[in-house]
Amino acid sequence: EMEPQERAFQERIDAGQKIEPKEWMPEDYRKTLIRQISQHAHSEIVGQLPEGNWITRAPTLERKAILLAKVQDEAGHGLYLYCAAETLGISRDQMYEQLHSGKAKYSSIFNYPTLSWADIGAIGWLVDGAAIMNQVPLQRCSYGPYARAMVRICKEESFHQRQGFDIMTVLSKGTPEQKAMAQDALDRWWWPSLMMFGPSDDASVHSAQSMAWKIKQNSNDDLRQKFVDQTVPQAKYLGLTVPDPALKWNEAKGGHDFGEPDWTEFFAVIAGEGPCNRERIEARRKAWNDGAWFRDGLTAHASKQAARRQA
Ligand code: 3HC
Repeated sequence: EMEPQERAFQERIDAGQKIEPKEWMPEDYRKTLIRQISQHAHSEIVGQLPEGNWITRAPTLERKAILLAKVQDEAGHGLYLYCAAETLGISRDQMYEQLHSGKAKYSSIFNYPTLSWADIGAIGWLVDGAAIMNQVPLQRCSYGPYARAMVRICKEESFHQRQGFDIMTVLSKGTPEQKAMAQDALDRWWWPSLMMFGPSDDASVHSAQSMAWKIKQNSNDDLRQKFVDQTVPQAKYLGLTVPDPALKWNEAKGGHDFGEPDWTEFFAVIAGEGPCNRERIEARRKAWNDGAWFRDGLTAHASKQAARRQA
């Protein structure tokens, strides 16, 4: 039976009102937002690593400039999201400690290696495409700071997706070797992109409550289905084959039937056993340690400034 305060809160949610930081909210609402927003921020920051891996090896200066801009955007997305999470009472240092200790998750997709330049195209096309699918509804999230952060992020993501699809178009319309690179990237990034949407609805522990609180607008499987239906025609345009023998159009359903992702792989990856998990966490720990002198300098400078103002 709901407490009067919780009932009033739920009525605000049902009426489509935005909840702001200083307003009353159930402890579990706060906790699930801290969990989701901080892990979303970690995803942005860790996502810079596989992409950054190709900045020095981009095939042209223009591709290098575009990739630099994209990786820089991801850093900005991370900062907006860390700030949104801080409004709920967790500190930046606490969130970093949770990432570095392995306590916090980040998107499974970033635990796969980027083996060729075509991977940068597949990431923009598929990973940012899936991220947009998942983030557009988050602009309507009931928590104000998160919804507002999403508006800016979604605008920049569409640039990320376009530039990725452009890379895949050039490769798939290029030499046979280039087309083979694009197909190889699609083969390796298709299923991990489907897993980005999370476990199937019947295995999703948070969906019911997150949807009742209008944090999650659509179920994991709904968004996964929308992503497949939108992406399959794009693969056809590229002349590439989606690596799923069960994929076929189902007229009655008005959508594609498709195979099951390998959930054993998914749960292993989010438990830290993916191809690159250790490497990613090590890179983040190193960046944190290498930046300690800079943070200490900033803090020392700030306290000197404060002392001067006091004097
Ligand atoms: N990677 C890692 N963990 C995942 C996951 C994934 N792809 N999908 C689900 N999980 C985890 C959940 O975090 C939860 O574990 P936890 O309790 O320890 O947090 C568990 O699996 C159960 O999953 P649920 O479906 O019950 O959990 P949610 O209701 O939180 O749904 C989600 C998962 C759809 C990812 C949701 O958290 C969400 O929408 N998060 C915000 C969006 C986001 O993080 N997107 C990342 C995309 S990558 C990115 O943004 C960078 C882009 O620029 C490329």
